Amino acid sequence: MKRKFLAGLLCVAMGVTTMAGTASVFAAEADTETEAPADDADAEAPADDAAETVDLGDIDVENTRIGISIYQFADNFMTLYRTELVRYLTEDLGFKESNIIVQDGKNDQAEQTNQINNFITDQVDVMILNLVQSSSAPQITDICNEAEIPVVYINRQPDETESDRWEADGIKATYVGADARQSGTFQGEEILETENKGDINGDGKVSYIMVQGDPENIDAQYRTEYSVKALTDAGIEVEELLLQRGDWDQAKGQQIVQDALTQFGDQVEVVFCNNDAMALGALQAIQAAGRTINKDIYLVGVDALTDAVQNILDGNMTGTVFNDHFSQAQTAAQMAVKYLKGEEVAPVNMVDYVKVTADNAAEILEKIK
Ligand code: GAL
Repeated sequence: MKRKFLAGLLCVAMGVTTMAGTASVFAAEADTETEAPADDADAEAPADDAAETVDLGDIDVENTRIGISIYQFADNFMTLYRTELVRYLTEDLGFKESNIIVQDGKNDQAEQTNQINNFITDQVDVMILNLVQSSSAPQITDICNEAEIPVVYINRQPDETESDRWEADGIKATYVGADARQSGTFQGEEILETENKGDINGDGKVSYIMVQGDPENIDAQYRTEYSVKALTDAGIEVEELLLQRGDWDQAKGQQIVQDALTQFGDQVEVVFCNNDAMALGALQAIQAAGRTINKDIYLVGVDALTDAVQNILDGNMTGTVFNDHFSQAQTAAQMAVKYLKGEEVAPVNMVDYVKVTADNAAEILEKIK
C-alpha cells in the first residue's frame, strides 16, 4: 500500500505547480473546495518504481555527491522529510548513500553556514538546504553561486525578491515547498465544517488561541493569518484570546495551552496550532484541564504526523493538514537531478497540502504509516 502511495505521490510531484518569479497565487482567492485528493493520486499511479519515471541522463550516479543540511534534526516533521529524501535519492534514484552527506543545522545559522562552506570545500555537486533562517538565503545563494554549486532550498521559503533575483540573474537556485496559505485556509475550513462553525458557546463569535511556530518562518506567519482569514472571509466574528510562539515544539505547545486554559477557561473554543507537534502538546494540556475535544473545544494542527491522525480517528483532535513530505522530498531530489543534468529549473515549485478530518483520517493513516 505504501509503495503504491509513493508512486501516486510521485504523480503529484511531477504535476507540481511551478511559478516563475511570483509567489503562489493560491492564497487570497483560495478555492475553498481545493483539496488534493489522495485517492485520485493513488488511482492514477502509473508505475510502482519511481526511478523509472525520472530520467537521470548521463549523471554519474556512482560518484555524484549531494550535500544536505536540515535546520534541526530534532524537528519531527523534518525528520520524516529527511528520511524520505535520503530513501528516495538512494533507493529510487540510485545515488550512493556514502555520497549523500546530511548535516544537522542544530537551529544555528552560523553552524549551518559553516556546514555549507564545508560542502563547498568538499566540492559537492549539488546542495539541498533547509535553512535555519530563510533570511540568510541571499548570502548563502551568493557563496554557492560563486562556487558554481546549484542549490535546492526546501521547507523554509526565501523572500520573493530573492527567488525573483535567481530568475533574473540566471542563478542556479530554486525553492521546493508547499504554500502555507493553503494549509492555514484548510485549518480554518475544518473549524467552519464543525456543527457550530467553532462557536461552541453560541455567543456569536469564535474565541481562539493561536500557538505559532517560529515566527521568522513564513509557514508560521501564513498559517496564523490564513486560518483566521478563512473564518472572517466566511463572515464569522473572531476573538483572539492569545497568540504565542511555540517554535514548532511539543513541550512549548503544552505549556502555552495549559497557561491559556488556566487564564481563559471555558472562553477558549478553538486552539489553532501551526503544526501537529504543538497540537499534540496542546492535547495533553486540554485533557489535563478536563476539556473534551469536539464537544467543548476544537483543536487543529498541520503536518499529519501519525499520532495526530490517530488522534483525529479517536476523536481527540478536530483536524490536521497533510504536509506532503513524500512529494516535497521527491520533488526536491528531482530538481537536484535537473541541475545535475544542466537543465533549467523554475525558481519556485509548490506541492499541495491535503485536508485531514475524521472523514478521511483512516485513509491518510494507512498511507503515511
Ligand atoms: C513546517 C512544519 C513544521 C516544522 C517547520 C520547520 O512546514 O509544518 O512542523 O517542521 O516546517 O521549518
